[in-house]
Amino acid sequence: MIIREMKKTDYAEVFEMWQITTKRALSKADSKEGIEKYLERNPGMSQVAVEDGKIIGTVLAGHDGRRGFIHHMAVMPMYRRHGIGHKLAQVAISKIEADGIDKTHIFCYQNNETGQSFWTDFGFKKRDDVFVYSYENKFKE
Ligand SMILES: CC(C)(COP(=O)(O)OP(=O)(O)OC[C@H]1O[C@@H](n2cnc3c(N)ncnc32)[C@H](O)[C@@H]1OP(=O)(O)O)[C@@H](O)C(=O)NCCC(=O)NCCS
Repeated sequence: MIIREMKKTDYAEVFEMWQITTKRALSKADSKEGIEKYLERNPGMSQVAVEDGKIIGTVLAGHDGRRGFIHHMAVMPMYRRHGIGHKLAQVAISKIEADGIDKTHIFCYQNNETGQSFWTDFGFKKRDDVFVYSYENKFKE
């Protein structure tokens, strides 16, 4: 298994994998154009895990100049519980850190027990003092 930078040309394979691992979290932002824009804005940060030439894990990583963010942390079911998720997250966070960012956030659905257990095990601290508020942007002419 190797971990390497996610490239724009990985999109089709990654999107297919997300149908299995990440379907609920997918949105318009995960269109081909959306992901290409994300990779351009955050060069070299997002990673894939590859086994026998096949993508079996992903992590999208980036920052806004102040805080790091991780999305779509996923490993194909048959490869889970072998530390691949940890390795992907570690590489992603090291890239964010290399840009001088000292804190990284993730969003995790409240009923995603696997995700919560994974992030807690990794060392993330669950915040009880913050709510996430979202706004559907609508000011475009
Ligand atoms: C979360 C996910 C990426 C973890 O990938 P992984 O390669 O299995 O992760 P690791 O092997 O590095 O995980 C190690 C630790 O995480 C925790 N963990 C991972 N899966 C777990 C599960 N199903 N139940 C409980 N704890 C779990 C455990 O502490 C585990 O250590 P252990 O195996 O020694 O008990 C994977 O389960 C996945 O793709 N899930 C679906 C997508 C998802 O929910 N992503 C997170 C979004 S917030």
